[in-house]
Amino acid sequence: MTTPALRPPGDKSITHRALILGALASGKCVLEGPLTSLDARSMAGVLRALGVAISPLRPGGTVTVAGRGLRGLRPPGATLNCGNSGTTARFLLGALAGHPFRARLTGDESLRRRPMRRVTLPLAQMGARFEELHGDGLPLVVHGGALTPLRYDLPVAAAQVKSALLLAGLVGQVSVRLSEPALSRDHTERMLQALGVPLERAGAGVAFTPIERLPPFRLRIPGDISSAAFLVAAALLGRQDPVVIREVGVNPTRAGVLRVLERMGARVEPEPGQEMLGEPLANLVVHPSSLQACEVAAEEVPSLIDEIPVLAILASRAQGQSVFRGVAELRVKESDRLELMARNLRAVGVSAEASADTLWVNGSEAPPVGKVDTARDHRLAMAFAVLGTVAGARIRLSETASVAVSYPGFFGDLKRVAGKGSA
Ligand code: S3P
Repeated sequence: MTTPALRPPGDKSITHRALILGALASGKCVLEGPLTSLDARSMAGVLRALGVAISPLRPGGTVTVAGRGLRGLRPPGATLNCGNSGTTARFLLGALAGHPFRARLTGDESLRRRPMRRVTLPLAQMGARFEELHGDGLPLVVHGGALTPLRYDLPVAAAQVKSALLLAGLVGQVSVRLSEPALSRDHTERMLQALGVPLERAGAGVAFTPIERLPPFRLRIPGDISSAAFLVAAALLGRQDPVVIREVGVNPTRAGVLRVLERMGARVEPEPGQEMLGEPLANLVVHPSSLQACEVAAEEVPSLIDEIPVLAILASRAQGQSVFRGVAELRVKESDRLELMARNLRAVGVSAEASADTLWVNGSEAPPVGKVDTARDHRLAMAFAVLGTVAGARIRLSETASVAVSYPGFFGDLKRVAGKGSA
């Protein structure tokens, strides 16, 4: 039997950070193997509209970003469209807060519904001004300018908020001291530290001291563990032994999915590789496994928030009842993922329930059959496509185009792992 080796696309979170930090660096930055999906294009497009020269994003290629320095963004000539990308919108709000001009941000239908006050309230404390055009969401006008230092306790663990505030401190050259209820993904902190920016870190707290300039950098982007998780899940449910997934970023603030899989009895063996700009890498060797139900506690949710859809799919094939606690944040992602996971699992014959902040899924061996409403959410589409690979499954997805938001080659890779990849 063949043992396919795959490399997932470049990490979405790290690509976003590399593009925006590249734009603020003093000189030319080079990104090897960045994500080139729609979300990455949204970030690159908005930065180009702010005067940053960025070479075309081509799959497997290298991208150069002509950094313009800490306050070098130019006033945009038109509304900035962040597409489906919450990270683009929130990071931009942070960076623009410290630039002395006005900019209007919008996004697609899903992004316009997502909360922005979690970023604009603390940025307003720093001195930026915002005009809400549609309540707590986009479109939004930001009036940036001189900023004052910030001390802030985030009400939810949210890396987009933490990073937006650190970007505001970086651009505004003011100190920022933050704490989170639990540590969210720390790529921004690791990247800044690797570039020599003095950050003090303790548990879920970080303190940033202003710097004069950000040096240019070269970075090879690790594979995205959130995208890899779909291949891992398909390999666990499949028959090819083993499947190897290469160069996956396994930063502990992102790798909660591996810890839960281990508890479920999944055979996923990480072979550690080298580090890239402070980010650990591993090859994942995955063997088909029979799975036990899992219990996911609220404290571990920030480390696996984007993997809950695919973990819920695995829970539907495990023995027993799984429970995911403290997952209310899923309601404000690209869709209401908490409600839609439960509803779509039921639609294909799985018993599942959602409350305000908890998801329960009962495992079953029956072939899943039915129609799934993805709500144009990439992670829902990919999660149910994985379920569609199990023996006897007949699952119809309402659409599949949304996978291009984070993983344009998804169906080809799924086919290599599971021998079955089309919806
Ligand atoms: C991200 C942080 C998470 C995650 C999102 C990407 C990031 O969101 O769900 O896909 O790159 O910082 P929150 O920060 O809103 O929790």
